[in-house]
Amino acid sequence: MSWYPTRVPPQAGRQVLVTGANAGLGFFTSARLARAGAHVTLSGRSPERLAAAVAAIRTRMPRASVDTLVIDTASLESVRAGADRLLDRAPLDAVVLNAGMVHTPSERRESVDGHELVLATNVLGHFALLAEIVPHLARGARVVSVGSLSTRLSTFRVDDLQLTRTYDSWRAYAQSKIAATSLAFELDRRLRRAATDAAEAVGAASVTPRVHSIVAHPGYSISGRTPRVPGVNQPPTADRFADALQAAWAQGKHRGAEAIVHGVTSEEVEGGQFWGPQWMVKGAPRLATPTRTSRDARIGARVWAFAEEAVGRRFDVGARS
Ligand SMILES: NC(=O)c1ccc[n+]([C@@H]2O[C@H](COP(=O)([O-])OP(=O)(O)OC[C@H]3O[C@@H](n4cnc5c(N)ncnc54)[C@H](OP(=O)(O)O)[C@@H]3O)[C@@H](O)[C@H]2O)c1
Repeated sequence: MSWYPTRVPPQAGRQVLVTGANAGLGFFTSARLARAGAHVTLSGRSPERLAAAVAAIRTRMPRASVDTLVIDTASLESVRAGADRLLDRAPLDAVVLNAGMVHTPSERRESVDGHELVLATNVLGHFALLAEIVPHLARGARVVSVGSLSTRLSTFRVDDLQLTRTYDSWRAYAQSKIAATSLAFELDRRLRRAATDAAEAVGAASVTPRVHSIVAHPGYSISGRTPRVPGVNQPPTADRFADALQAAWAQGKHRGAEAIVHGVTSEEVEGGQFWGPQWMVKGAPRLATPTRTSRDARIGARVWAFAEEAVGRRFDVGARS
């Protein structure tokens, strides 16, 4: 199986950060962007797993321009330390918010900061990271949040984002992806407003936002349909067999990465868009329709205010701290 089923436009000169890059969709997103010539910073919580991912990329592409950055998205201290290191480097042209707990705990657990663990990992760590780095991104940079079809399959309890009233593992996952998508669209709205305000302040007509926020979802992408990569993806034979039975409605993670890579690289992509596979669960990238809840500006503003309080800082999309 090829790691690179489709062509990616040349990316030389672009700097990209991918969170949760040592495995799954994040790994293949990183490998494909590096192959297209981008400099890719693979971020993850384990130095050993990141080293294995880089070794796997270098085995195929000895001259790949890649490095690593430890960020545990479930720890605000780890996020802040990682962001500090990013601010010392050249501005990023794209950030892929991919890290996520997919197999969520059956009982409610909390992060070191006292937040529900799935929310902390999939949402709050990324929000805190963006709050630090968005003002320092390159002009025209893209923030690509990894969404999910699960957002269609669950209601959203915006008054219980920490799931203190009732918790179950499915709700924890789906709710985290709805919150992440809602924040991504709220980021887009705020970036547009900041651009309009900045243009009005100098009497200019142009209102192109400085940064673009996009959501891409990978459909249904599973390990057993994914190329074997030593140290990165080595599903047991039984899993390969079981996953082969799902071939009609599932794709490999190397294919699932396509909508994400498209969000980072395609000229047709604009802020505020939602991209996903053509056949919903699999296929080539196409523009998709997000849920009404995730696009709702009042809900977005509420989730944003909640996230600011949870991470303990304001996130002003225009201001440099
Ligand atoms: N696969 C699908 O069909 C599907 C569908 C919709 C959305 N998604 C989304 O796609 C993203 C990736 O999913 P995947 O299927 O590729 O999952 P995966 O193979 O389990 O990979 C998840 C990645 O996130 C990392 N991660 C988990 N917790 C972390 C933390 N606290 N800090 C930093 N990194 C952490 C993992 O690192 P470790 O190795 O250290 O655990 C791993 O690199 C997730 O956001 C998921 O919600 C996936």
